[in-house]
Amino acid sequence: EKGGFASFMAKEIHDQPAAVADTLLGRADAEGRLTLDELRIDPEKLKGISKIIVLACGTSAYAGSVAKYAIESWCRIPVEVELSHEFRYREPIVDENTLIVSISQSGETMDTLMAVRYAKEQGAKTLSICNTNGSTIPRESDAVLYTHAGPEIAVASTKAFLAQITATYVLGLYLGHLRGNLFTGQIKDILADLGKIPAKIQDILDREDEIKELARSMSEEQSVLFLGRHVGYPVAMEGALKLKEIAYIHAEGFAAGELKHGPIALIDDGQPVFVVVPSPRGRDSLHAKVVSNIQEVRARGAKTLVIAEEGDEDVQRYAEFVFYVPETPTLLMPLLATVPLQIFACELATAKGFDVDQPRNLAKSVTVE
Ligand code: F6R
Repeated sequence: EKGGFASFMAKEIHDQPAAVADTLLGRADAEGRLTLDELRIDPEKLKGISKIIVLACGTSAYAGSVAKYAIESWCRIPVEVELSHEFRYREPIVDENTLIVSISQSGETMDTLMAVRYAKEQGAKTLSICNTNGSTIPRESDAVLYTHAGPEIAVASTKAFLAQITATYVLGLYLGHLRGNLFTGQIKDILADLGKIPAKIQDILDREDEIKELARSMSEEQSVLFLGRHVGYPVAMEGALKLKEIAYIHAEGFAAGELKHGPIALIDDGQPVFVVVPSPRGRDSLHAKVVSNIQEVRARGAKTLVIAEEGDEDVQRYAEFVFYVPETPTLLMPLLATVPLQIFACELATAKGFDVDQPRNLAKSVTVE
């Protein structure tokens, strides 16, 4: 059932072209109008929302962080992302004009469920992005957008994460259309770019040996840092989380702009640093800023491991290692840039002889508080 792979995690990494394609399947009609799976509120009410709060934990919260960039850009609605357990233990400001978007693979995470219940009591509208049909969180929500990643067996989330990000894009396009922020043509263009993602993930998977070799050479590392800006920031956070949870290596993700506010003090000779580099075709200042961050850490002895877009020759001068991902619009880049980091963690943990599917101390579904 592992389909010839050494672990469920490896198999699920390879399931990702299908997870993204299936999550997009049948969502849009010829006019670019999108559909949600369940909608128990009047779309007119969704139209009137004044802010979105995304609630989730762990990897699912990083999907929420990616969503913030896309939804704010496409819909011009303020989006906050908050960990469910932080949200529920303060007195968050929500009302009937707030849309709560919960993201949960299992649909049973206790903190997320409780946070959603609290928000609902305050009159907020609730929408669930979930991978498990009929689980508690979608049942209790006003609207549901299912991710179609299929059952995820490995404790460390991979394909559910990419499917969650995909679903948040669908939600962004849905709201953008509903509120008149996006024209049909724009929606169609973005959907066309999304439609190309599965083949681009496959291209990365076909070249996975490049990153696996790097991973095996790094099995004795004590600490690995991950840097990113903009949508590359949550990708860096997710890369670090994967490494800590299955390879038990100290790993931290940072917003690259924070370097000089503290983390750069950690850099000394040989410190491995992954850097997620945005497209050089995108907002120009973003690429240049990240390239200068690579130079800053390199000048202090870091071993720079770069994830960059195909054709970005610039970065080679500053990198010990470069893995290229296919071109895509910046907002969609996490669907590609995350994959080599998942492969890296999975291969490194496998090389260390760990059970990557059942990491110590972790459960697949956190139904306790
Ligand atoms: C990490 C991981 C966890 C989950 C988190 C939320 O690989 O799997 O961080 O993302 O426990 O779980 P769900 O999405 O089921 O609410």
